[in-house]
Amino acid sequence: MAEILIAFYSRADENYMNGELTILDIGNTEVAAGMIKELTDADLFKIEQLQPYAKSYNQCIAEAQVDQKRNARPALKRYPESIERYHVIYLGFPNYWGTMPMAVFTFLEHFDFSGKVIKPFCTHEGSGLGSSEEDIKGVCLGAKVERGLAIRGSSVQKAKRHMERWILK
Ligand SMILES: Cc1cc2nc3c(=O)[nH]c(=O)nc-3n(C[C@H](O)[C@H](O)[C@H](O)COP(=O)(O)O)c2cc1C
Repeated sequence: MAEILIAFYSRADENYMNGELTILDIGNTEVAAGMIKELTDADLFKIEQLQPYAKSYNQCIAEAQVDQKRNARPALKRYPESIERYHVIYLGFPNYWGTMPMAVFTFLEHFDFSGKVIKPFCTHEGSGLGSSEEDIKGVCLGAKVERGLAIRGSSVQKAKRHMERWILK
């Protein structure tokens, strides 16, 4: 089904989940993106910063906060050549300080999403989607931004049913 794209940002390494620091081999949002891939057979694209945030959780949250405060647009490693053929885009990201990581803004501003349907999905540790849906609408003018799905990152492995219902609705 080449007309669907899953574009997601996710960070492995050290994270804070269920009250303790844990090393993740695969980030929570990447796990969620894999579930959508299984259910839709869409194309998958990982949004990656040229300069990734630190592996250390505490350093990473500090770096991400600085980027958010100065409204930065971190450079990305690569982009899909074109998104023309995609009608539906599942856009996945962790909640960073109440919205999307700034690199997701970089990604969104690179393309024209008008006429496309964007389905946001987010993993978080308590804040849900935050202001991300409104923020996506503010950047992707002319796109239809559907109601997003919020999954608690530390429970992502148990979210498949929930995900299925969201996709099929
Ligand atoms: C820089 C940073 C900022 C975060 N800010 C929030 C937040 O404001 N609200 C929240 O609920 N979770 C927050 N979290 C937790 C992540 O959203 C959560 O762990 C998510 O599942 C990580 O996804 P990933 O493994 O795909 O990167 C933050 C995590 C990081 C690293």
